[in-house]
Amino acid sequence: MLRILIIDESRARASELCAGLAMAGHQVAAALPSVLDYVPMHWGGRFMSGLGVIALTLPANDPVSHQPELKHVAVQVEKLATGWQLVAMRRDDAGGLHAALQPWLARFDHATLTLAGRESTVAVLRAWGGADSPPPSPELLAELAAAMGLDSPQILAFNDARRGVAKRALIEEDRLAGALLCKETRATDWLLDLVVRGGSTAELRKWLFAPLATPPAAGPARGRIVCNCFDVSENEIRADLAAGLDLAALQANRKCGTNCDSCLPELRRMVTELPALAPQAG
Ligand code: FES
Repeated sequence: MLRILIIDESRARASELCAGLAMAGHQVAAALPSVLDYVPMHWGGRFMSGLGVIALTLPANDPVSHQPELKHVAVQVEKLATGWQLVAMRRDDAGGLHAALQPWLARFDHATLTLAGRESTVAVLRAWGGADSPPPSPELLAELAAAMGLDSPQILAFNDARRGVAKRALIEEDRLAGALLCKETRATDWLLDLVVRGGSTAELRKWLFAPLATPPAAGPARGRIVCNCFDVSENEIRADLAAGLDLAALQANRKCGTNCDSCLPELRRMVTELPALAPQAG
């Protein structure tokens, strides 16, 4: 666990202030406000560019078992001044897209490549550029679109060259099969939810390129996915907790937090914050 101060929910950059096991846990707690967040520590080159948060911590391993030493580090977190963002998602029913896209991680300063969904797999590439970084060129976007199968003749496209905004959406049999958003990415969460669920685009088609963080029709979005192992969303957890389920009942009901345990800290946090929780309007 990396304990960090969250300035806001924007993408943040953590810089090391000091590292060392000499700083005991209670001293860290005294030095930082009681705000916790959890960041992935085991992502390697298959999932992100750069070294990730593990680069902030100690490189020590146990000499016998070669297990990594427990990670203790104090950090300062500051907002990363991003100049642009890119999100590209594509259903990967045949498999293999995640592996095929891994070389793309090296094409960006900051990028992640993940999988979403459980019944259907969706490859999701996200990239960010700094404030001084030029946005991806049309040629690069076209190359990425081709690599993700987002270049077929029936693709819907929107381009605003002056603002550097580019968007694509692929609809197959009324289902959103993939999308690409560059520079203006507010709709990322609900578009990804739509791709994962295979929901109908009948009522949403005209809104696919709108700069909206929530869908304007067709019911509430599921919200951010908290448990990736079992595809359980934040709003589903909030609804269960509001209905009176405790952590054990939640796990029995949806299986979240019963496999890799990565989501358990966040589930526990949501349970302790129960009085303040309520399903968020979609
Ligand atoms: S992410 Fe929830 S159990 Fe793995």
